[in-house]
Amino acid sequence: MDGFSYDAVLVGGCGHVGLPLGLAFAKNGMRVALYDISADAVEHVSRGEMPFMEEGADRILKELAGKRIFATTNPQVVSEAGSVIVIIGTPVDEHQNPEPHKVVDAVRELGRYLRPNQLLVLRSTIYPGTTALIEAVIDDLGLDIDIAFCPERIAEGRAIQELFELPQIVSSRTQKGFDRASELFSLLTAKVVRLTPEEAELAKLFTNTWRYIKFATANQLFMIAENFGLDYETIRRGVSEDYPRAADLPSAGFAAGPCLLKDTLQLAAFNNNEFILGQAAINVNEGLPYFIVSKLARKHKLGSLKIGILGMAFKGESDDTRSSLAYKLKRVLRYRAGEVFTTDPYIEGDPDLLPLEEVLENSDLLIIASPHQIYREIVTATPMVDFWGLRGPKSGL
Ligand SMILES: NC(=O)c1ccc[n+]([C@@H]2O[C@H](COP(=O)([O-])OP(=O)(O)OC[C@H]3O[C@@H](n4cnc5c(N)ncnc54)[C@H](O)[C@@H]3O)[C@@H](O)[C@H]2O)c1
Repeated sequence: MDGFSYDAVLVGGCGHVGLPLGLAFAKNGMRVALYDISADAVEHVSRGEMPFMEEGADRILKELAGKRIFATTNPQVVSEAGSVIVIIGTPVDEHQNPEPHKVVDAVRELGRYLRPNQLLVLRSTIYPGTTALIEAVIDDLGLDIDIAFCPERIAEGRAIQELFELPQIVSSRTQKGFDRASELFSLLTAKVVRLTPEEAELAKLFTNTWRYIKFATANQLFMIAENFGLDYETIRRGVSEDYPRAADLPSAGFAAGPCLLKDTLQLAAFNNNEFILGQAAINVNEGLPYFIVSKLARKHKLGSLKIGILGMAFKGESDDTRSSLAYKLKRVLRYRAGEVFTTDPYIEGDPDLLPLEEVLENSDLLIIASPHQIYREIVTATPMVDFWGLRGPKSGL
């Protein structure tokens, strides 16, 4: 189209958000380039192999790699696409401060590759105000480029399905930018929701913060029930049975991963650190591993106990360890327990991980830290802690 070799280039295109989106576009006929600084991820994708788990993605990548989807570490490819979609990570630093300049700096660096008439879509979760900063960067280049912020709202692992089902929030300062971005995403979804860029920036942070606070509510109620010697999951099921107003009360569990905590921190920083509910949610969710260990310490002599942790990913059926609270649990137990063993069927590259059988055989106590479905089926006489309610009511704490 318009003299460009690709319909779209995805910057950060081999990551957890970029790659499924690229595959979804390619599946629906677009020619897609993935630009990424990770040579390892680019090599994987070029070989037609997913660098991480994502349901339904392997098949599409195998079919389309080298045909409609091309991965590269060469930024020059940014010049060759009609739409440039930026999906690089937006981290918080080691002191939990958001680093909003990362996306702005990345776009500034791409500046020399941008061309007139391109559509620039920001898709990273960004600190409020970032779209305006990027508009200023593009303005300085003096190129006629349309800009839109269109946040990603998929759940990792279900992207391929959800990209085709969820409405897409589209925001742009101009009608032309809105029309072009809407046309791009209409290839995937029938429904576009229009907001202003500033509304869309907050909308994305509100989405994740709302979810994080909901999980914290469940985790706090779980702790209250446990402190009274009662089982939260039994109560939760009783409360929500045929009662729609409580149907969305979550089970207890580790609320972790690359987005929920980070985005709650971003919103707190944006509001001058005044975000009591968000900060309380962080205390509750990040405190759950400590609660579990202190509860166990009341019942057992931890120092003489061998504890097996089942599942180290941040959530079930995932190989993603980013900000996983299973690792926090491991760290806390390492101080307190006799020995700690860990296992996970999906994670590669963690030298501490042992086969499940070995952990089952050698542990005095088991804790399900990540609710992988295979742990439902385990038959063992070893006591098991299951605060997720994966195997049914009774946490075993
Ligand atoms: N993971 C999720 O479920 C999810 C959901 C919605 C939104 N988001 C947001 O999407 C963004 C990306 O998250 P992710 O989970 O895909 O992260 P990720 O780390 O999996 O992917 C980011 C990719 O960008 C690449 N990259 C980093 N800097 C780059 C640069 N300057 N140029 C080119 N490539 C670069 C990295 O190598 C990596 O492959 C974040 O802002 C995140 O908050 C994530």
